[in-house]
Amino acid sequence: MGDVMRLDRLLAFLGEGTRSEARELVRAGRVCVDGTPVRDAGIQVDAARSAVTLDGRALSYKRVRHVMLNKPAGVLTAARDKRQRTVMDLLPPLYAAMGAMPAGRLDKDTEGLLVITSDGQLAHRIISPKHEVGKVYLARVDGPLDGADAAAFAAGLHISDADGEFDARPARLEVLSSSPQESEARVRVTEGRYHQVKRMFAARGRTVVDLKRLQIGALMLDPALEPGQWRELTQEEAELLEQEPPENATITGG
Ligand code: URA
Repeated sequence: MGDVMRLDRLLAFLGEGTRSEARELVRAGRVCVDGTPVRDAGIQVDAARSAVTLDGRALSYKRVRHVMLNKPAGVLTAARDKRQRTVMDLLPPLYAAMGAMPAGRLDKDTEGLLVITSDGQLAHRIISPKHEVGKVYLARVDGPLDGADAAAFAAGLHISDADGEFDARPARLEVLSSSPQESEARVRVTEGRYHQVKRMFAARGRTVVDLKRLQIGALMLDPALEPGQWRELTQEEAELLEQEPPENATITGG
């Protein structure tokens, strides 16, 4: 979308209501462009250059926005749902109004890093297995893990279960702690099939009891964000999503 558009369209894009609600706001004299009240919602405005206010409040325009959310458990990764709370419900309406969507999917019970963006190309890059963007997860499982599990992940697991059959791409498993009752590990995968990580552990006889995504490509979850909290990506972070750390990079992440 270009930056020059009708004023009512701009107000809707900025999450200030529907186009017809925006027209009402303008008719009521509540909207100023460059300091001057306007009454015609049909005027063309250069959103990138004009100062637009509503009731004296400056409206900030960006053509695209990217959000980092620390997704809490119990919330659906979807643009909308009739019954259940979605990740979009955790953000102000501005983001849905400009067409932002989750880039990829975390299970309802999975926590951690989710990028929500209005840039469809960036979302595609994050999701598409072709780009091999690594995703790093912290997993707690219900039994021991050892070098044989790491070797099996590295070789590429064959998954065959009630949800179907596929050969998982080689993945990196770093065992952080192991005991007969419970283990913790970091896992790096480059694809995002349905329940991917849980099914990979299940193929090794383990059940995932907790799963949190820490990293997408070189972008790490901000440790200052509590579950449910979010912020926009910095320019540098957005650029990180365009690149992928070298294959032999250690698995890190907050
Ligand atoms: N793998 C899973 O099993 N679940 C997720 O939410 C993400 C990756």
